[in-house]
Amino acid sequence: MRVSPVALQNLLSRAFVIDTTTRAASSGVAQTASVCMVRTAQNVRLSHAHAAVGRRQLSAAFTAEPLSSDRGNALLEDDDGKNVANHRTDRKQRLLANEGSFPGTTRTTSNLGSSLFVYIPHREMSSSAAAAKQGLVALEEARRFMVECLVKSKTPLGHAKQQADLLLEADYRGHFSHGMNRLEMYINDLHKNACSGEAEPTILNETPATAWVDGNNGLGAVVGNFCMDLAIKKAKEVGVGWVCAKRSNHYGIAGWYTLRAMKAGCIGMSMTNTSPLASPTRSKEAALGTNPISVGAPGKDGDEFVLDMATTAVAVGKIEMQRRKNEPIPVGWAQGPDGHPTTDASVAFDTACLMPLGGTELTSGYKGYGLGAMVEVFCGVLAGANYATKIRKWTHAGADSEADLGQCFVAINPACFAPGFEGRLSDLTGILRNMPMTDPNHPVLVAGDPERIHMAKVDKEGGLAYHVNQIKTCTELSKRLDVKPIEVK
Ligand SMILES: NC(=O)c1ccc[n+]([C@@H]2O[C@H](COP(=O)([O-])OP(=O)(O)OC[C@H]3O[C@@H](n4cnc5c(N)ncnc54)[C@H](O)[C@@H]3O)[C@@H](O)[C@H]2O)c1
Repeated sequence: MRVSPVALQNLLSRAFVIDTTTRAASSGVAQTASVCMVRTAQNVRLSHAHAAVGRRQLSAAFTAEPLSSDRGNALLEDDDGKNVANHRTDRKQRLLANEGSFPGTTRTTSNLGSSLFVYIPHREMSSSAAAAKQGLVALEEARRFMVECLVKSKTPLGHAKQQADLLLEADYRGHFSHGMNRLEMYINDLHKNACSGEAEPTILNETPATAWVDGNNGLGAVVGNFCMDLAIKKAKEVGVGWVCAKRSNHYGIAGWYTLRAMKAGCIGMSMTNTSPLASPTRSKEAALGTNPISVGAPGKDGDEFVLDMATTAVAVGKIEMQRRKNEPIPVGWAQGPDGHPTTDASVAFDTACLMPLGGTELTSGYKGYGLGAMVEVFCGVLAGANYATKIRKWTHAGADSEADLGQCFVAINPACFAPGFEGRLSDLTGILRNMPMTDPNHPVLVAGDPERIHMAKVDKEGGLAYHVNQIKTCTELSKRLDVKPIEVK
């Protein structure tokens, strides 16, 4: 949908007169315009707006403020950071969104009260911003840079390559939060000796189908690859391999390990606990990590199912990326210090309290909370590692102590079950992908499809489109470590 800049500003000026403090950013080419407002049961009003006009996109978001708050400032900027609208508000003002002038919106009522709502996929938010401010880096160049930085950080070449391949795969699959974005954190940990670049994992206890591994505080990829390879070997021998590791470190995208199992013809499953960043339902403090789960299964002719997800509404890296880009986060991703949802990426980052998958109790957030706790059972508790609040606080600056994360790696040999697994898997994905669409422009996907779409895009463009701020961080890293700067195409 296209609207004129004047109409857009009119719309925004009407829609945004609420008790809010906001920061806004704009960039990119976008086709859509939307605005949403939710009034919660706690009498806190949250709103998010995202709008686009041809090549100019304006977007804004508001932090949640109790209706008694006096504060309010809505600021919109264009591509060059020029202020194009600035609305001061006070607590007497009320939302005046006019759905008639804004096609695409729908009015719904729910337990949360009346809401004018348009769903904005968060991937769309990320990609529209990335389109405007990015530097294209060839995959091999990104890998070279990561390997050299790690080697300059007390890590042997073989381990540096393993870690870099993991990070590169995250970027390639479109999870920029877990690729190059994480390099600096690993390097800080290595320089502070919070993690050992040299350490090799060892097996503590083993049966034909199981193994308990000590990661010896090594790099996450080194420990994870070791454990999944062991699980695959066991699955080939006895049908299933279930390996748990203690004393591991941040292991990146959980999908990396399931893909490893899938390449060997197995169904793969992996989970890790992480530093406390998510509140249990009904708490305003974080007790569980983002605790991702991945399950992957091979289909026919390269088809696959790869579920790889945080058990929080999003991975913390996604909030970090929004903050890096000075962009807001949608309602339901994270809580502010008062325990209520926030849309300010910086507030969310500083508060470090994500919401479980599902959001609030009203929207079944307790199911995400349950899944996060389940990951702890299979990881921290089963492996004898740290768990929940016993895990050190998450820090980008380099930790002062060992993380002692628990991780779980499972490989299942489908050949031990009904013959023709791959064919049926592809039949299932085919049924799902061919279901009638609610929007003809958005076909039904199965888990792993968004990543495949992203990989095809990277291949077509000939490189990874890093945000300009990511390139800046790389430049700083290259100076700090005396490594050749990353080459942008
Ligand atoms: N190591 C850690 O500490 C840690 C912690 C949290 C998350 N992570 C990683 O961060 C990455 C991002 O996690 P996330 O939860 O933000 O992922 P996400 O929300 O982008 O995707 C989650 C899953 O949903 C699928 N999906 C997305 N859109 C879909 C659609 N329209 N239809 C069908 N399926 C769809 C994806 O393919 C993926 O499998 C993951 O790789 C995860 O492992 C790592």
